[in-house]
Amino acid sequence: MSVIPFDQREGVIWFDGKLVPWQDATLHVLSHGLHYASCVFEGERAYGGAIFKSTEHSQRLKKSAEYLDFEIPFSVEEIDAAKRLVLEKNGQVDAYVRPVAWRGSEMMGVSAQHNKIHLAIATWEWPSYFDPAQRLKGIRLDMAEFRRPDPATIPCKSKAAGLYMICTISKHKAERKGYADALMLDWRGQVAECTGANVFFVKDGALHTPTPDCFLDGITRRTVIDLAKRRGFEVVERAILPGELEGFSECFITGTAAEVTPVAEIGPYTFVPGAITKALLDDYMAEVQPKARAA
Ligand SMILES: Cc1ncc(COP(=O)(O)O)c(C=O)c1O
Repeated sequence: MSVIPFDQREGVIWFDGKLVPWQDATLHVLSHGLHYASCVFEGERAYGGAIFKSTEHSQRLKKSAEYLDFEIPFSVEEIDAAKRLVLEKNGQVDAYVRPVAWRGSEMMGVSAQHNKIHLAIATWEWPSYFDPAQRLKGIRLDMAEFRRPDPATIPCKSKAAGLYMICTISKHKAERKGYADALMLDWRGQVAECTGANVFFVKDGALHTPTPDCFLDGITRRTVIDLAKRRGFEVVERAILPGELEGFSECFITGTAAEVTPVAEIGPYTFVPGAITKALLDDYMAEVQPKARAA
């Protein structure tokens, strides 16, 4: 992966309806989105030139903004078309796609009733979220100190930038200790998710995954649940307590960036990436290919 900083790369970025040279896609320091986190985004992947579940991501982006009380001034169809255009102009077929929408600069207090809503879309090559060698053996997860907050305190269904503050802190702490990522509990002390991915466990041939009642019900999570059911695996969505981790044989995480990534350790608990994880990893990688989708 290139180490060129993200603001110094080449290519084009779609910015409020126009394609602009990559390094010109800037915003003013007095932007409401920067000061008050009135900002939502998406993370998507294109495989073989087609974005996997593009429309679902565009719909989620629009919904995320609504939860933050703003409306993105582009339709789902326009956002889908814009993403295709940026990919094409950047000459990419396998790429990560990042739409981001935020409140502009017209008002700079907490209230920003009439601020312009901006939308930008960038794409870049991002082969593997985790170190590829470590990924296949299973990554190691720390237990995060921060918990996913009570839905009464945050718009938990929004993919809002502000909700990632505790994710970055948790991931940094985990990385400093040599882990790849951290598992977060929720405000009740139940297992929730990783800092950028959902989590699944295997016990006696069945999949167990936390009910997404205070964190993102990921598009990859739902895809993997469908794939598991297609294979005839039982999928149990329920509250999972950290004490139960000892009784699970396999564990993996799911997300657009992480795809399906086996987990070998969570704190003191160990897992062996096994047949079910491997089957779902293979099924997912087949499912995202445009040929499988056209068939
Ligand atoms: C906090 C968090 N949870 C879960 C997910 C998985 O969501 P998806 O599968 O839609 O990418 C992501 C990734 O976007 C995330 O950032």
